Amino acid sequence: MISREQKLIEMGLGPVWRLRQAGDATEESKEEPSQAEASPTRTASAAPLRPTVPTAAGLPPGVSAAEREQRILRMDWTELKETVAGCIACNLCKTRRQTVFGTGDEHAEWMLVGEAPGAEEDARGEPFVGQAGLLLDSMLAALSMKRGENVYIANVLKCRPPGNRNPEPGEVARCSPHLLRQLALIKPKLILAMGRFAAQSLLESEASIASMRGRVHRYQGLPVIVTYHPAYLLRNLPDKYKSWQDLVFAKKTMESLKAG
Ligand code: URA
Repeated sequence: MISREQKLIEMGLGPVWRLRQAGDATEESKEEPSQAEASPTRTASAAPLRPTVPTAAGLPPGVSAAEREQRILRMDWTELKETVAGCIACNLCKTRRQTVFGTGDEHAEWMLVGEAPGAEEDARGEPFVGQAGLLLDSMLAALSMKRGENVYIANVLKCRPPGNRNPEPGEVARCSPHLLRQLALIKPKLILAMGRFAAQSLLESEASIASMRGRVHRYQGLPVIVTYHPAYLLRNLPDKYKSWQDLVFAKKTMESLKAG
């Protein structure tokens, strides 16, 4: 049994808690940018995760966006993986090295949703394999959990936005049926939305992470808990303790879901 102190150390929080100083930024004054905003070339915009595609870009002739969505929502794992791998529904297909489908236990109770692949993920074809991914693995370990074991990790977008810019609303709209189908196939008990972009897209909200934390939201009927993006935590170490609180909350919520 791993002790609380060990867990905090695993997350880079330990061994000593730091008292916040009067001048420290608050949740309100220092809201998490989307992962993309870490880059000076990016601007903020989180589009709702609603598959309403107005054009037929990337679709076979004669197939409407609504038909494309309905087809995707009926796919099995094999078809879905092939479809994502060959997707040309938005311009990200022109700049990606490869698609990043998602990884983990296809029967997982936990579904972790991030924003979009970065350079490392684009190169390796797996989500969260860079520095942020290492932190994510530590966070999971702190909960006695492990990537691939009862956990599935995916992003809102399956392709890397060039230069790590923010995902655009049209890209989210075209990609969202893929995540919707992943969720329907996995049927997780709980979704952990990591970062402002994932949270705002899933919950169709413009609310801040600070205001969304600590509550159970719903997406497609599934419970959603919101926390900071690991990349944000790497740049804002003092906020790691909030993320720890969110994870403990998520774990307790999962226990009560399973009990009830
Ligand atoms: N950030 C994300 O949101 N997803 C990844 O896969 C990697 C970094």
